[in-house]
Amino acid sequence: MKSIVVKQPNDLIIEEREVPQPAKGEVRVKVKLAGICGSDSHIYRGHNPFAKYPRVIGHEFFGIIDDVGENVDIARIGERVSVDPVISCGHCYPCSVGRPNVCESLTVLGVHRDGGFSQYAVVPSQNAYTIPDEISDESAVMIEPFTIAANVTAHLKPTENDVALIYGAGPMGLTSVQALKGVYNVKEVIVVDRIDERLNMAKISGADRVINNTSLSLKDELDRLSIKPTVIIDAACHPSILQEAITIASPAARILIMGFSSEACPITQQSITSKELSIFSSRLNAKKFPVVIDWLKEKLIDPQKLITHRFDYIKVIQAIETFEKDQKQCCKVLLTFS
Ligand code: NAI
Ligand code: MN
Ligand code: ZN
Repeated sequence: MKSIVVKQPNDLIIEEREVPQPAKGEVRVKVKLAGICGSDSHIYRGHNPFAKYPRVIGHEFFGIIDDVGENVDIARIGERVSVDPVISCGHCYPCSVGRPNVCESLTVLGVHRDGGFSQYAVVPSQNAYTIPDEISDESAVMIEPFTIAANVTAHLKPTENDVALIYGAGPMGLTSVQALKGVYNVKEVIVVDRIDERLNMAKISGADRVINNTSLSLKDELDRLSIKPTVIIDAACHPSILQEAITIASPAARILIMGFSSEACPITQQSITSKELSIFSSRLNAKKFPVVIDWLKEKLIDPQKLITHRFDYIKVIQAIETFEKDQKQCCKVLLTFS
């Protein structure tokens, strides 16, 4: 089989490997589609501190089970599945409180262990979620990015009275827009970005208002419009954003950050406590595949709106470079496997 392997930073090859045998409790997935995410590019470029090389990257993938290991029902062979990349121990403190995404011995497929950019991948059976026939292959491969929004909104508990502001109209901002509007029906969703083409995608995904903050003060603009966001999601993740979010937030607002920058961001106790703000963070997803599968069954979200490019896996370098360079036209780039 062919696998896409990052041998070391900036050195990616398509390698011939043995088709893996599923171990006890595992299934083998014949991969059909995989999505390129920022973190794949970060591992390729050597910017992910958790990555170990060589690594088969890819943590967003869909395919068909074609073999099972010991202790797995043989009837699973032939199932269409999407794979949750989060592998957890099941018994540490975070696992015991329903937070396997921050398991003390967390393993993420495509980061800590070989992932889905391969003709075949072996994964724990419980990580391979059955996809109902009514959900298309392309929607199924988009489940993982939407589980990030499911995790974010599980923390924020949005309501119809909320006015939400999202920083960033990349894939993460857009999945959040769709969840807030399609699933939670919040009153208003405002998206802030510096790229008009991306803001246009935010409108297509349901944003009520978009603001390009390249050359204006977001605070002044919101004051002018008399908008006080009650929910703020930082899906742009620049370290300067948290302070601004605290400043523009309504009293009693909830703010959620998703970034991994190690740069300090100065914030004061007073600015948080005086408005009694709640600040959450969200990482990966805590068993949110079934949630997003339900969203898809009920047609509350539309992943097609995010898919802009498709490449045969042989052209993976071109696909990643397009994803990295063309922020105006590119959102989700899919790789097709045969
Ligand atoms: P992206 O890079 O495609 O999108 C970020 C967007 O933010 C871009 O459109 C950019 O123009 C915009 N932006 C940057 N600075 C801004 C500013 N100061 N004001 C307004 N807009 C600004 O990235 P993607 O894939 O959407 O991911 C977003 C972030 O979320 C990344 O930092 C990524 O590391 C993080 N992430 C976190 C996850 C988690 O579970 N915590 C999961 C996936 C991604
Ligand atoms: Mn991803
Ligand atoms: Zn654990």
